[in-house]
Amino acid sequence: MEVTVIGLGKLGLPLAALFASVGHKVNAYDASKTLIESLESESYKSSEPGLIDLLQNSKSNLNFCHELDKSTETTSVIFIIVPTPSEEDGYFSNDFILEVLKNLNPSHFANRKVVIDIVSTVMPGSCEGVIRQTLERKIGKPLGEELGLCYNPEFIALGSVVKNMQEPDMHLLGESSSWAGNIVEEVLASVVTKSVLCQRMNLTEAELVKIAVNNFVTMKISYANALYQAGVALGNVDIDVVTNAIGLDTRIGRKYLKGAAPYGGPCFPRDTRALTALFDELGVPADLSRATEMLNKSHVSFISELVNKSLGEVKTVGLVGISYKPSTPVIEESPGVSIAFDLLARGYRLQVWDDENAQLPSGLHEQATYSKDLSALVEASDFIVITRPTNKLELLLTKLEQSQKPYLDLWRQQK
Ligand SMILES: NC(=O)c1ccc[n+]([C@@H]2O[C@H](COP(=O)([O-])OP(=O)(O)OC[C@H]3O[C@@H](n4cnc5c(N)ncnc54)[C@H](O)[C@@H]3O)[C@@H](O)[C@H]2O)c1
Repeated sequence: MEVTVIGLGKLGLPLAALFASVGHKVNAYDASKTLIESLESESYKSSEPGLIDLLQNSKSNLNFCHELDKSTETTSVIFIIVPTPSEEDGYFSNDFILEVLKNLNPSHFANRKVVIDIVSTVMPGSCEGVIRQTLERKIGKPLGEELGLCYNPEFIALGSVVKNMQEPDMHLLGESSSWAGNIVEEVLASVVTKSVLCQRMNLTEAELVKIAVNNFVTMKISYANALYQAGVALGNVDIDVVTNAIGLDTRIGRKYLKGAAPYGGPCFPRDTRALTALFDELGVPADLSRATEMLNKSHVSFISELVNKSLGEVKTVGLVGISYKPSTPVIEESPGVSIAFDLLARGYRLQVWDDENAQLPSGLHEQATYSKDLSALVEASDFIVITRPTNKLELLLTKLEQSQKPYLDLWRQQK
């Protein structure tokens, strides 16, 4: 099938490459000229596992476009994966999506079936509201037999984007008509490597599912973290023994039920804030999502208190892990960054090291010392805090054992 992908960022590019890798003819457009040039010249770099190989192996099916107009002429489905940044009130902005829609060429939609598939995360009500209005006005015809609108957010985590797209728990698909949903389902099904159920529903239902799923997971994380705090307060409690037993109840499950670090990254925090904002707007009690956010913030202080109990007077703390998870250098709302700022505010000197080469944000950059390698970090620190799972566990444990320095592994990876 001929498909178009608009927005070739952390999510859009892997999706375009996957579509191309299974034989679709993909017109790939991004507003960044520099990005398109780097993709064309094959100088594009990414640490996302599998992405560069995928691009290399699928290049005969990838047509990188410098203009939006060149990408939609004969395509059957247009995937839109542009940013939807969070606004101050927690809502997501649709401005980038609307800009794309306003720049579509109506003549490309004449006398044929075309589906617009929104992959960007949007607030419930967006697709049936402002997105539908803008699309219909621009194309000059209503949603129906020729013009379809779908909403199909991806559940991926950076560092495993390709794998998550190939092996999702489900496909979530909101649709304006079943013919449109059929087309999108067919394209999505073509890239998976296991059997995947496609959950089809109306547009608003799918919008609600997307943020509700992420909020349920953050609620579970905060719940486990509250238990972790209770376990420390009680004493003589191995929190993993507790959460492993709780998770054996099939109504609950073990995934994401581990007392460890706060949640972070580009999706969990903002999707949770969005659900709180939506509930407030609708007059629905938002206590659960609000408590989830509050617990997540206070868990940072709890971790600093643990360090304080171990270290006492002001000394140098070595922090391992600045990116929000392994296999990605992204630091957006990263627990490592929050913990670093909290420790600095408590007067600790800070050495940091990151196995993904994550860069320190401003503020932290000026106050903390970035160790050039793990040995330097261990040497310069009195106490080490491991903020997230690492791909370099063996090396880390060896260095810690050699140095005999005390440490706190929030994830207890050596178990
Ligand atoms: N990154 C994630 O982990 C993740 C996970 C799930 C959902 N999402 C959602 O996917 C969407 C995109 O996220 P991302 O992380 O890929 O963003 P990103 O910032 O990495 O990439 C967005 C891309 O869109 C391009 N763009 C902006 N305006 C454009 C326009 N008018 N026309 C064409 N291209 C344009 C940018 O140049 C950029 O390359 C967001 O709504 C986000 O919430 C992201």
